[in-house]
Amino acid sequence: MAPESTPLPLIEARALRKLYGPHLALEDVNLAIPHGATGLLGPNGAGKSTLFKCILGLIKATSGDGHVLGHDMRTEGHLIRSKIGYMPEYDSLDPGLNAIDQVRYSGELLGMNSSAATQRAHEVLEYVGLKDQRYRKIETFSTGMKQATKLACALIHDPEILICDEPTNGLDQRARNFMLQTLRRTVTDGGRSVIMSSHVMDDVQEVCDRIVMIHKGKIVVEGKIDELVSQVESEIEISVWGGASEMESQLVSMGMPVRRLGRNMRVSKSSEETYSKIMEAASLCGVQVRKMSDYEPDLEDIFLLIMDRLGEEVKGTDDLMTDEHRGLPV
Ligand SMILES: Nc1ncnc2c1ncn2[C@@H]1O[C@H](COP(=O)(O)OP(=O)(O)O)[C@@H](O)[C@H]1O
Ligand SMILES: [Mg+2]
Repeated sequence: MAPESTPLPLIEARALRKLYGPHLALEDVNLAIPHGATGLLGPNGAGKSTLFKCILGLIKATSGDGHVLGHDMRTEGHLIRSKIGYMPEYDSLDPGLNAIDQVRYSGELLGMNSSAATQRAHEVLEYVGLKDQRYRKIETFSTGMKQATKLACALIHDPEILICDEPTNGLDQRARNFMLQTLRRTVTDGGRSVIMSSHVMDDVQEVCDRIVMIHKGKIVVEGKIDELVSQVESEIEISVWGGASEMESQLVSMGMPVRRLGRNMRVSKSSEETYSKIMEAASLCGVQVRKMSDYEPDLEDIFLLIMDRLGEEVKGTDDLMTDEHRGLPV
């Protein structure tokens, strides 16, 4: 079989470093982001927004360099921004404008003529689900509608790459689902590339095929989600009727490492034989196995594995990935 060709990355960075005064926000970031959907994952303060602003040429890196679609991040920001749609984290909308004027205006700022921008504004507002609200003032909008308007502004010039900084922030479940589906659709149906940041694992998992994990300004892992998941040790998840503690001791005494997770247990899967050994353990201690299946690891498992490798004391992503968590170990 012919080897798969590797297309050039859309975004490349080498030894990118950003200092805000004495504060090191990005530390020698090396990156290669290909076409597709990529999630930039990291806790608050990790450097996600800073990295996006460097990529867009909105701020200059202190040292290092990078290219986006062949353009230099440090000197060709205007060209980069003409090809990338950017949905910023902050509220970038004018509350006094109606949605159609706001979106048209973003097109004009990017150099589109008024009639092209107007026509396109109608299309993108429909795409983000705001067809019926397009003549309403933004000040009357919910957070979900404002985020959708920001997305429409980012899409106005039909960019090749869409960068969304925390697109689901502040959204309720319905608006969140719609946002994530729209981003996914932009990749699968539109053929565009999407790079979205989030501190929520699930959001990224719904949209992206690849992740870049950033922690304290450093990239800690980068790659395809399914390939990363395959690095996580295989486990079999079981649940038993009564006697969970007996079952646990029995498994351990038979040399099978086990983790208790509430009502379920996960047993390291050393081979296919592990299944029959689990059944043997159950019959030896007289408990009934209710459920037994291969455990499917997710992004959270990858994250915990990486943090463990880095020697960070993190028990779960709740420790690190949520808004509430501020006290990161230094
Ligand atoms: N304009 C700025 N001036 C000084 N420090 C900043 C500035 N912007 C961000 N930082 C700091 O840089 C670090 C990374 O911030 P940021 O890129 O916003 O992280 P994230 O988007 O992952 O939450 C944080 O410690 C933050 O406080
Ligand atoms: Mg941010």
